[in-house]
Amino acid sequence: MNDKIPQTMGQQFGRRSWAEPWKIKMVEPIQMIGREERERAAEEAGYNTFLLRSEDVYIDLLTDSGTSAMSDRQWAGIMLGDEAYAGSRNFYHLEEAIQSYYGYRYIVPAHQGRGAEHLISQALIKPGMFIPGNMYFTTTRLHQELAGGTFVDVIIDEAHDPRSEHPFKGDIDLDKLQTLIDKVGADKIGYISLAGTVNMAGGQPVSMANVRALRELCDRHGILIYLDATRMVENCFFIQEREPGFADKPVATILKEFCDYTDGAWMSAKKDNLVNIGGWLAVNDEDVFDLARNMVVIYEGLHTYGGMAGRDMEALAIGIAEAVDDDHVRSRVDQVRYLGHLLIDWGVPIVCPVGGHAVFLDAKRFYPHIPQERFPGQTLAAELYLDGGVRAMERGVVSAGRDPETGDHRYPALELTRLTIPRRVYTQAHMDVVAESVKAVYDAREESRGLKMVYEPKYLRFFQARFEMIRD
Ligand SMILES: Cc1ncc(COP(=O)(O)O)c(C=O)c1O
Repeated sequence: MNDKIPQTMGQQFGRRSWAEPWKIKMVEPIQMIGREERERAAEEAGYNTFLLRSEDVYIDLLTDSGTSAMSDRQWAGIMLGDEAYAGSRNFYHLEEAIQSYYGYRYIVPAHQGRGAEHLISQALIKPGMFIPGNMYFTTTRLHQELAGGTFVDVIIDEAHDPRSEHPFKGDIDLDKLQTLIDKVGADKIGYISLAGTVNMAGGQPVSMANVRALRELCDRHGILIYLDATRMVENCFFIQEREPGFADKPVATILKEFCDYTDGAWMSAKKDNLVNIGGWLAVNDEDVFDLARNMVVIYEGLHTYGGMAGRDMEALAIGIAEAVDDDHVRSRVDQVRYLGHLLIDWGVPIVCPVGGHAVFLDAKRFYPHIPQERFPGQTLAAELYLDGGVRAMERGVVSAGRDPETGDHRYPALELTRLTIPRRVYTQAHMDVVAESVKAVYDAREESRGLKMVYEPKYLRFFQARFEMIRD
């Protein structure tokens, strides 16, 4: 790695460099604890990075969820919280922001994404129904299953291939969807579960052409399309960059156009929307709205706060507007790509093209000698923490869980370790430190033997499972 002339971010992309459109006003000190302390912390955490204490972590790339830095305007908004139980003015600001940027008619607030997933799954899925989608997401699929549905993956094949350079690996394969409709009948399809930048595929986008064609197909069969809008803004940046006809359109315009093809959306506002907590469900159908608004009072809170404080809703309303700023989203995605391209240059196997919110290490190619039963993705996350205090997370067989019918592990084609970049939090120097740590772990890859799972919770096991290092 030292015989190459170092490349700035701009040089990597063949243009002049481009910096973050913000400056830092407040800092939070971080420190790295010593190797022995990290070894103790990792063992106590059962080699599951979700079980580490954050103070034992140096650079925290566990998730981009709720970990972004809010702006001065958002913090000012926090002071304007109207903490009334009912009818808080901040709810109406939030409603207006969602209507104006996403274009949906009716809004139900929720404490975070899975709260909204619960509502829409319960509202639209009847036992025995199928929910086709562009690759599963952990909490989304679980809520669909708990409502009696069966998720069916209809994403294009390229999404399962970490080496494929397809520009829109999040696209739905319309032939696969048609085959499912022909087999089970349109009335057995709860809705299409469409996610913008597909998390489990490596943060890969869906094209506008695909959602347009999907709308036509669904209209022919009377099928609804619901969008997981969690990282839809980042998806729209990729459309602007890659899809003919969108280069001159602002991300905000592209977002509205994309959402227009769908019947509603659920949102984990902790990602794109730049807040530390919050979520929402937005729909165009009045009956679905009535049902969801009625259910929210059982599970989340009154329909004008849904689990959020007034101040949270104000920060969220402001975050929605900031999130679609073209400079913001470009610098966010470019930071992720800066890290990804360093690793590609050094020969570290990652999912290509680099996605919107994270660099996904390809643990199968990283550790070809560790079989999937020994959890290579989980192993790599543990080794990264041990090397440099960098916290990543597994997106492979542990995250995939067990098949509810057979009880066997589900073995996904993609066995990944995710380095997730919070928005507006870390600098390029942090990315350099992370890249060097990944390289060090890669150079020592033959020494790793994998992990044994010693505790497994029933639901969403990746959050709480415990492991032991295999040392033979
Ligand atoms: C694509 C996607 N959908 C839904 C969720 C669930 O959101 P939350 O964590 O806010 O419950 C997440 C969060 O990780 C996500 O990445």
